[in-house]
Amino acid sequence: MTEERTPWWRTGSIYQIYPRSFQDTDGDGIGDLAGITQRLDYLVDLGIDAVWISPIFPSPMADFGYDVADYVGIDPRFGTLDDFDRLLAAAHTRGLRVLLDFVPNHSSDRHPWFVESRSSRTNPKRDWYIWRDAKPDGSPPNNWISDFGGPAWEWDAATGQYYSHAFLPQQPDLNWRNPAVVDAMLDAMRFWLERGVDGFRIDVLWHMVKHAEFIDNPLNPDWHAGMGDMHRVHQTHSTDQPEVHDIAARMRALAEAFSTPDCERVLIGEIYLPFERLMQYYGTAEAPGVHLPFNFTLIDAAWNARALAALIAEYEAALPADGWPNWVLGNHDRPRSATKRGAAQARVAQMLLLTLRGTPTLYYGDELGMEDVAIPLGQVQDPRELREPGLGLGRDPVRTPMPWSDAANAGFSTGTPWLPLGPDWRTRNVAAERDDPASMLTLVRALLAMRRAQPALSGGDLRLLEAEGDVLAYTRGDDVLVALNLGSNAQRLSLPTGAFVPLLTSDGTGLDLEWSGGLALKPDQGIILRRIR
Ligand code: GLC
Ligand code: MG
Repeated sequence: MTEERTPWWRTGSIYQIYPRSFQDTDGDGIGDLAGITQRLDYLVDLGIDAVWISPIFPSPMADFGYDVADYVGIDPRFGTLDDFDRLLAAAHTRGLRVLLDFVPNHSSDRHPWFVESRSSRTNPKRDWYIWRDAKPDGSPPNNWISDFGGPAWEWDAATGQYYSHAFLPQQPDLNWRNPAVVDAMLDAMRFWLERGVDGFRIDVLWHMVKHAEFIDNPLNPDWHAGMGDMHRVHQTHSTDQPEVHDIAARMRALAEAFSTPDCERVLIGEIYLPFERLMQYYGTAEAPGVHLPFNFTLIDAAWNARALAALIAEYEAALPADGWPNWVLGNHDRPRSATKRGAAQARVAQMLLLTLRGTPTLYYGDELGMEDVAIPLGQVQDPRELREPGLGLGRDPVRTPMPWSDAANAGFSTGTPWLPLGPDWRTRNVAAERDDPASMLTLVRALLAMRRAQPALSGGDLRLLEAEGDVLAYTRGDDVLVALNLGSNAQRLSLPTGAFVPLLTSDGTGLDLEWSGGLALKPDQGIILRRIR
């Protein structure tokens, strides 16, 4: 029998890089691969195990790389394949894994496949995308709505049919019911696996297959204009179809074929669904799906002890037998944690993220406490904002350049950054926070170090303690206890029997604890304790 090893993606932490905004090296104001390579030592020092890099493939950038024109190349703005190979080798030398962002639901409308597909109804690639006739009155085939607002169908006058696009019209949906598409896309994944990537984050996995009959989606009776156009209907028939699991299983089999005991290639699925449906994406024992269907629930969770305890319990209970949990606090599409929770609770939130059971994904800049940056009207870039302005749906505010120092342009670029820096970059930057014991960066680094030092934090089981007041508390394994004060009043927590020593507090105030019959928590304070035997 071979010895079972814990795969790296269970114990490790993942760090998302939005490459346009991480580090620019050629002065064009846009981050690049050489910039990431240059900053790998920062990531090693931070203590993460893997980076997931948002799309770097050739793209017209209608959706900033999520519109791919070539699945097996590198956009010149980011560099070359050689730059990528150098980045990968440099990461691997440092023990860091690299995950790419694979965008299978749709390509760019400039992808040669789509150019062919739209060239005529009889083109061999016609059926690589989703083409439908108009209704008799000329209107779109059904009521499906794009996630970016407006109908999910674009009229092609030259060939007299509509094509489907779950996102922008410049992002036509690939037809995953066509086996030739499946083969071509698996070939693209194979290309990167052969090059040595350690896995993929799979973009909008739950969107990939649509109902075969294209029936109307049910109307959402609770819709109001402030929600954004897409919420007019429930996406019952345009997403999450049973056949998607066969595709996930094909991708998983490919990842397995490239896995070795030293390196399992991991698949992470971007899926926004309720737990019960989300869990289906783990697949079955016979046909496993993705390793980690992203669990985004912390991002919008009600921030109080009872609600969070219920959420954690519900998620843990819903996991399939072999399903490994994961947690996310932010990404390039959602408001930043520090803005959503406030500076003090953002620290508590990091402690939560990094002490829950399961693989954590950190979003670049959150380790500095970066906040959403207000983007002046003339500088808006995100098509999401441009198509439905003023609803707060735009994503530019969470995609601003990483502040490295108080040098010009925060050390991000020698040119003008593609998005403005946050107003606080002169004080909130890596150089300023690195040696400040009270900084967010110091806290996150300490938390990541503690995950390594205390295996119970990555591998131990999780038991919730009865929530008291604003305190969320749980144990990890037999000996680690985490208590988080989610409010701004002092709190007390009665501890299980035994003697505990503090390991870390979230607020940098040191470890001066009160021990009279329980644990005294300061406002907005989180604390990790260890039982002494
Ligand atoms: C995913 C990405 C988002 C992108 C969309 C379309 O949700 O995270 O940034 O706009 O897919 O590809
Ligand atoms: Mg550049």
